[in-house]
Amino acid sequence: MASPRKTIGVINYIDRSVDIDVAQRQFTTSSRRENLQPRVLLLLIACCLISAFVITVSHHGIERLATSPFNSEQGEVALLLPTQRHENKQQDLTALSQHTDTEINNGAGNSNNKLSSSSSSDNSSRSFTVDILSVGSIQQLDLLHAQRTTFASHISIRNFFNVTENDDADPDCHKYLTWDDVQKVSSFCRNRPPSGMSHVSRHMRGKYARAQWLQKKKNPVGWMCAQVRPTSGLMKAYQHYRDNIMEGLPDYFIIMDDDTYYDMEEFERNFGGMNSSEALYYAGCLVRDPVHQINFTFPFGGFGSILSKGALRNLFEPIHCPTPPLPSSSSSVLVNDQHQPLCDRIAENNVDEQPSFQTGMNLAQLMYQYVNAHKYRDVNEWEQNDNGGGGFCMHSDWVIGYFANYYNVSRHVVEPFYADVPHARIEPYKNSEIYKKGTGFCVNEGNNCKEGSELCHRATPQWMKDETDRLRLKVPTKYVTG
Ligand SMILES: *[C@@H]1O[C@H](CO)[C@@H](O)[C@H](O)[C@H]1NC(C)=O
Ligand SMILES: *[C@@H]1O[C@H](CO)[C@@H](O)[C@H](O)[C@H]1NC(C)=O
Ligand SMILES: *[C@@H]1O[C@H](CO)[C@@H](O)[C@H](O)[C@H]1NC(C)=O
Ligand SMILES: *[C@@H]1O[C@H](CO)[C@@H](O)[C@H](O)[C@H]1NC(C)=O
Ligand SMILES: *[C@@H]1O[C@H](CO)[C@@H](O)[C@H](O)[C@H]1NC(C)=O
Repeated sequence: MASPRKTIGVINYIDRSVDIDVAQRQFTTSSRRENLQPRVLLLLIACCLISAFVITVSHHGIERLATSPFNSEQGEVALLLPTQRHENKQQDLTALSQHTDTEINNGAGNSNNKLSSSSSSDNSSRSFTVDILSVGSIQQLDLLHAQRTTFASHISIRNFFNVTENDDADPDCHKYLTWDDVQKVSSFCRNRPPSGMSHVSRHMRGKYARAQWLQKKKNPVGWMCAQVRPTSGLMKAYQHYRDNIMEGLPDYFIIMDDDTYYDMEEFERNFGGMNSSEALYYAGCLVRDPVHQINFTFPFGGFGSILSKGALRNLFEPIHCPTPPLPSSSSSVLVNDQHQPLCDRIAENNVDEQPSFQTGMNLAQLMYQYVNAHKYRDVNEWEQNDNGGGGFCMHSDWVIGYFANYYNVSRHVVEPFYADVPHARIEPYKNSEIYKKGTGFCVNEGNNCKEGSELCHRATPQWMKDETDRLRLKVPTKYVTG
């Protein structure tokens, strides 16, 4: 690897660190096949049920919920409200939640065990809670394991969620997608139609991964398939919260890669005093596009995204709009006034998200439908449309960046320079950003991470262990043993 500063060129931010050795992949694939099939079936059933639910909701037309499920502390209990309103689907939905219960509780079970063996296990005594979502791959489970047993053993961590190929809507993407398909996706996305497309869509598609860049990756197919994965993870966490309503939402939710390290002692020091009910979104390293071209920012996935409880609520709040969402000027139907700006945004259809929306969906669900609307391996059937659609042309970091900024997931940034940019909503954590060059945590990659680095990308299991052992000695009571 070249010197860290060089590796952090603006090109590298799209690396999702899921490079998979092809030979190893084939080996693992065949040995895993029997295990995989029941899961795939379950996932398919889950998808059918979700769409059945969505269709039912849309047939019932416009509805208003008196309160959003996540609007108040007690309100979290009402998260199942939409299901309860559709008795004819009740059975299916019960089946769905049982399915997700078993599947998702397995992941959480680990942390529950951990907690029940610790004196600080009483949830009522916890003053500061963090849930982690780690985006990984079945090809490198050792990294997930390392995270869980090192920094994620800090007592502030309540759930350590992980997401891999197995949780994707198309879990076999990496088996069937070919290098030829990958090149076709790249050229489809880079060849923009002459008119109609929004500025933000045009801008992103112009920067879509080039074939030459993809070719240099160890596993271009694995990289491409992984672009939907953070959204799969968000759905997985959402289902967990929905199925464990009494647990409530954490103070903070961190989405990171499987080779990301956070010093949770330091994290607690920084965030413990803040009001997590405020909707906050911090990027461990914020990528800022040139402001003379566009005001668009997104989190560099490998350095993590930090969402407060208030921001999570916004992600999980059902949005009620007429279907299809109409701009307020042309809408004759009453909708929840608070939702009108969101409905207007959907109607703008900046990135071709509108066809994925059905009334009653929350933003996490909209993102999930959106990233899965076009399968990569169907690229031969993708057709350009004027809205920048017809295919899925976003890198994973752009998806969360677009929805967080343009759908007001978090409050406006404080920096005065962006006062007039309404969609400036992601803060750089401790001024860590990449504009022309990286600052703050953005330079903490691989060998550049030093003892005491609060945040590190491309950390090895050994480095995570050494750092955590050091902290365990310093503050033994803050880490769960075993
Ligand atoms: C990842 O999540 C699955 C449940 O989906 C769980 O069985 C597994 O133990 C988790 N792995 C780690 C390292 O936490
Ligand atoms: C702790 O959480 C569990 C579910 O995770 C819940 O059943 C229980 O009521 C909670 N206890 C307290 C004291 O809040
Ligand atoms: C925390 O923020 C929420 C949402 O903005 C607000 O309602 C609440 O009053 C704040 N709490 C404190 C202690 O400032
Ligand atoms: C981005 O925002 C800044 C600050 O308001 C402004 O000066 C600049 O013109 C904006 N860029 C674009 C492309 O609109
Ligand atoms: C976002 O919030 C601003 C106020 O800060 C508001 O003007 C705008 O309509 C909101 N947009 C959406 C999509 O909710």
